[in-house]
Amino acid sequence: MNARIIDGNALATTVRSELAERTAALKARGVTPGLAVILVGDDAASAVYVRNKAAACEKIGMHSLKFVYAADTAPAVVFAKIAELNADPAVHGILVQLPLPKHFDSDAILDAIAVEKDVDGFHAENVGALVQGKPRFIPCTPYGVMKMLESIGTKIRGAEAVIVGRSNIVGKPMALLLLNQGATVTVCHSQTRDLAFHTRRADILVAAVGRPKMITGEMVKPGATIIDVGINRLPDGKLCGDVDFESVQKVGAAITPVPGGVGPMTITMLLANTLEAAERVVMEKIK
Ligand code: GUN
Repeated sequence: MNARIIDGNALATTVRSELAERTAALKARGVTPGLAVILVGDDAASAVYVRNKAAACEKIGMHSLKFVYAADTAPAVVFAKIAELNADPAVHGILVQLPLPKHFDSDAILDAIAVEKDVDGFHAENVGALVQGKPRFIPCTPYGVMKMLESIGTKIRGAEAVIVGRSNIVGKPMALLLLNQGATVTVCHSQTRDLAFHTRRADILVAAVGRPKMITGEMVKPGATIIDVGINRLPDGKLCGDVDFESVQKVGAAITPVPGGVGPMTITMLLANTLEAAERVVMEKIK
């Protein structure tokens, strides 16, 4: 039997309607949640992501601001913009789209964002809070994955979870979230000696490497849940994930498609974090 498909678009629609209601409630109290997105350079994929993030904000009634800079912009210009946004009470969330051009110190840029507006959860202090199991903001992609697992009732406590990829954006925070919920977590990466040995043990397998169709059916345990975070463009222009959907679907119990899987949930959780940031400001005021 083929694996159940976890529909990211359907789940995103459900979650976004709840967020729209909470946004309306906040607006009734005179506060419109606001997200500012900064994009530096002309990476085509990043431009699409930023456009989608801004559009998703507007659609649920939030306010969005977009700042686009040429690839050769001096870091000082971006630091100044971040300082201005940190001080702006109409902005509740700030996101700097990654990757940044090579002459930027990305960590320094991320650490310049006010911790209470860091809706990506990438500021060192927020990363530390996540490591301690007390996250202030959960990074959007792993947060979306956790929501998808929750939506199908995946048992995380005691499960063998294997993550392929160790990025700061997905692999590492994903490992921490699963670990904090009681999974036994293995993180594989480009130096891992026998990848299939590890992936075949996984009850929950998360692929986040950026290599088209690298996880194949024979690398997957029968009955596993497979989450595909990859978004790769094939030479024919089509999108595909890191998972070979055709062969893996025949082995696993549940699988996310690409497109229409994790992608819509990532943006949804960015909206959730922005709303949460705005709600915290209101709660602080009435304390
Ligand atoms: N680039 C790819 N994914 C992300 C993300 O989740 N946040 C930011 N800021 N940049 C990204």
